[in-house]
Amino acid sequence: MTQDELKALVGQAALQYVTPGDIVGVGTGSTVNKFIDALATMKDQIPGAVSSSVASTARLKALGIPVFEANEVAELSVYIDGADEIDAQGHMIKGGGAALTREKIVAAQSRRFICIADESKMVKALGAFPLPVEVIPMATARLIRQFAALGGKAHLRLKDGAPLVTDNGQHILDVTGLQITDPLAFESEVNQWPGVVTVGVFAHQKASVCLLGTSSGVKTLTF
Ligand code: A5P
Repeated sequence: MTQDELKALVGQAALQYVTPGDIVGVGTGSTVNKFIDALATMKDQIPGAVSSSVASTARLKALGIPVFEANEVAELSVYIDGADEIDAQGHMIKGGGAALTREKIVAAQSRRFICIADESKMVKALGAFPLPVEVIPMATARLIRQFAALGGKAHLRLKDGAPLVTDNGQHILDVTGLQITDPLAFESEVNQWPGVVTVGVFAHQKASVCLLGTSSGVKTLTF
């Protein structure tokens, strides 16, 4: 099976976690796009979705699924999103699509995080994927030095030759060379550095379930 087929497989499998009558939290990325396409088949059974990005909002609306603001909804039963890496405890690296801040916000207001991923995303320890960090632009140079002090090399993410601007009007640093042995402690530490909007380690908002697409089918991991 191709990676694209594995993504479609887990996108479809995630429908079992959508409760008719409930608003669903929706992530961002190529795997979630498959889920959104599948969700369209249930659109008459749900009031709509809370979205984690401008891109997902556009896709949801194009398929006729109403989108609510996060502030309009107190709690979501489920949030469904992909990951760049996930470990055996359900900790993740996210933000390859630059949507990490809104993803963490919607995940935090959801009772369960259902991660959908192909098997290439499963890792023993987080950190091979460059860690995305959304930052306030005036803090970039200092934050690059702070990551260097931890042994990391931070690069400003570019798009078309200019700094990428997130849905929140901020920039992204991608950090390589880090060994994230304690994801909870690492997330807590980096989160408090002035100028950091969101670090792409999801340990406080870790997955409850991972639907992992493998060549022999969907494996369900619970954490
Ligand atoms: C978006 O910012 C990310 O957190 C995505 O969830 C993550 O990058 C996975 O994306 P893919 O499903 O495209 O691999």
